[in-house]
Amino acid sequence: MKNNNPIGIFDSGIGGLTIARAIKRKLPNESLIYFGDTQHLPYGDKSSKSIVFFSEQIINFLRTKKCKAIIVACNSASSYLPISGDYQNIFNVIDPVIKYLKKFKKLKIGIIGTKATISSKVYFDKIKSLNRELSVEQMSTPLLVPMIEEGFVNEIISKTIIKNYLTRKQFEKIDKLILACTHYPLIEKQIAEVCPEIEIINTVDIISEFIKKSLKSLDLLSLNSSPKYDFYASNYTNSFEKTASLFFKEEIKLKEIKIWS
Ligand code: DGL
Repeated sequence: MKNNNPIGIFDSGIGGLTIARAIKRKLPNESLIYFGDTQHLPYGDKSSKSIVFFSEQIINFLRTKKCKAIIVACNSASSYLPISGDYQNIFNVIDPVIKYLKKFKKLKIGIIGTKATISSKVYFDKIKSLNRELSVEQMSTPLLVPMIEEGFVNEIISKTIIKNYLTRKQFEKIDKLILACTHYPLIEKQIAEVCPEIEIINTVDIISEFIKKSLKSLDLLSLNSSPKYDFYASNYTNSFEKTASLFFKEEIKLKEIKIWS
């Protein structure tokens, strides 16, 4: 596997761009190929079978692009994809966060995510088996992804929705909040504004740091001084192209591609 080969990153939509941008900042020599499955967005209300089917097809597509590593930048897909021997150099976004929690004692952790992620109970089970001293409250917040994809985040009604979720009884006195959906860091500012008492764990930083260390230990880091960024979507949208350009601070040309067999 050539070190200068790209890293593949995928999500249902723009959420994974939060991870892609962090990877670009931490690993500026890496070429990236991003795939947003806008045709099937949101993943959060799909069955596990559909999520795994879409994800496997995207992984195959990224492999045809000779990606040296693939980041499943989607919690819903990370919750269900069986990462086994066949899936070498594939990183999910859940395990780095679980590992980070190892050092804490006697905390109440709140988790918000899509219906798919929350009903998989993957965070709950992994945290419990890692550290019995942590108590976990999880909640699905399905209105947030459509809101974020629409760029509808600074309105009174969107802040009311965020507040309604986070001030529910079950989340009373949580010590830390995990944003278990890669879309949610896009509204971190709004969450902090409406619930200033909640401490949000910086999952994007934890995940990108973990990937940097892992690629280093696999001896897969690139030294390429002119990396390339390619963006694909299963359904072209102007807003996706705009957001990607804003995120990457350069003009991005989004290519629509049909990869389903
Ligand atoms: N950003 C993804 C996640 O982390 C997918 C959200 C969705 O499409 O529902 O779960």
